[in-house]
Amino acid sequence: MRKIRITGTGNYLPELVVTNQMMSEIVETSDEWILTRTGIAERRLSSGEPTWYMGAQAARLAISEAGLSGEDIDLIIVTTITPDYYTPSTACIIQSEINAGKAACFDINAACTGFVYALDMAARYLMSDDIRHILIVSTENISKIVDYSDRSTCVLFGDGASAVVCSRPSDQDESAMLATVLGSEGQGGQYLYSKALDVKHPFIKKEQVWPDRFGQQDDHYVNMDGQEVYKFAIRALSDSVLKVIRKANVSIDELRYIIPHQANSRIVNAAARRMKADPQQIISRMSDFGNTSSASIPICLDELIRSGRLRRGEKVALCGFGAGLTYGAAIFIY
Ligand code: ACO
Repeated sequence: MRKIRITGTGNYLPELVVTNQMMSEIVETSDEWILTRTGIAERRLSSGEPTWYMGAQAARLAISEAGLSGEDIDLIIVTTITPDYYTPSTACIIQSEINAGKAACFDINAACTGFVYALDMAARYLMSDDIRHILIVSTENISKIVDYSDRSTCVLFGDGASAVVCSRPSDQDESAMLATVLGSEGQGGQYLYSKALDVKHPFIKKEQVWPDRFGQQDDHYVNMDGQEVYKFAIRALSDSVLKVIRKANVSIDELRYIIPHQANSRIVNAAARRMKADPQQIISRMSDFGNTSSASIPICLDELIRSGRLRRGEKVALCGFGAGLTYGAAIFIY
């Protein structure tokens, strides 16, 4: 068992609310189609706030909630697929914003599973003597890579950020990570991707130009095979939760909440039936935020903690799934 205590959380959701009705003014769709197929009623979109800014705002709230200052943070892990720069990392930019001078910083890309990967890493880092407080920031401006003329993807996504401070608890504290399950299926990469820059320099010969691995043209938009992702998501979500439950040696009834990645309510409902979870345990908030990729799980976690619905000592399962393809689940005692 790895000792880890969530000591502070915070969210940043952009002010701009885009309803399904507003989406139907830019693409051929309807509120009814989006709601019944996805459970999404509206999403927040950035009005230009960069990814680092949203992350820094969430981080400030989380650190203050933890009763700490930036100087107390030993490590910053940012999860994002929509950074503002190739380099510096978003974690380094957030470090300078929150004056976390002694922190080591890096970003990870595990797409929508990013937060679960980061939490697993945090629990492992906290086992070492020289790290006491870790800041995880999940921040996504998915609108940067969405084609707003493609109705099959643009209705799904929203922007937002969330941050969590993880600290090493005292020996008497029961807060802990009970088990994690992480995995990837790289051979499914073509089902969901967004392309980065090509190799282009003055010495390149034409015949050396490589065709794109996934057949993508020159844009950087999210490209998705919705039905393949749908099937993968239901399987990944239910299998990884069942696996992590076995690994943690708990029963599903002992879980106060199961927080799945907020992609689509049909995926979540189908997976919940498959794992025989009580609907009351399942957190489903995509109606208000859409799919915010790696930020979606910690946004829900922050809401549960701030509203007092999650109490110390209760067990929670998290489960992410997404591009890569990646998946992961964790069970911890809050
Ligand atoms: N409004 C109206 N019609 C639409 C829209 C829309 N926004 N989008 C697609 N359609 C149309 C299609 O063009 C198609 O029309 P056609 O039959 O004339 O060709 C029809 O609806 C059916 O399309 P399907 O793709 O078969 O629709 P489906 O029932 O599969 O629903 C959806 C599409 C919602 C994307 C579904 O496949 C899905 O939920 N997939 C999971 C993908 C997901 O959640 N991705 C999120 C990112 S992944 C992640 O976070 C891990």
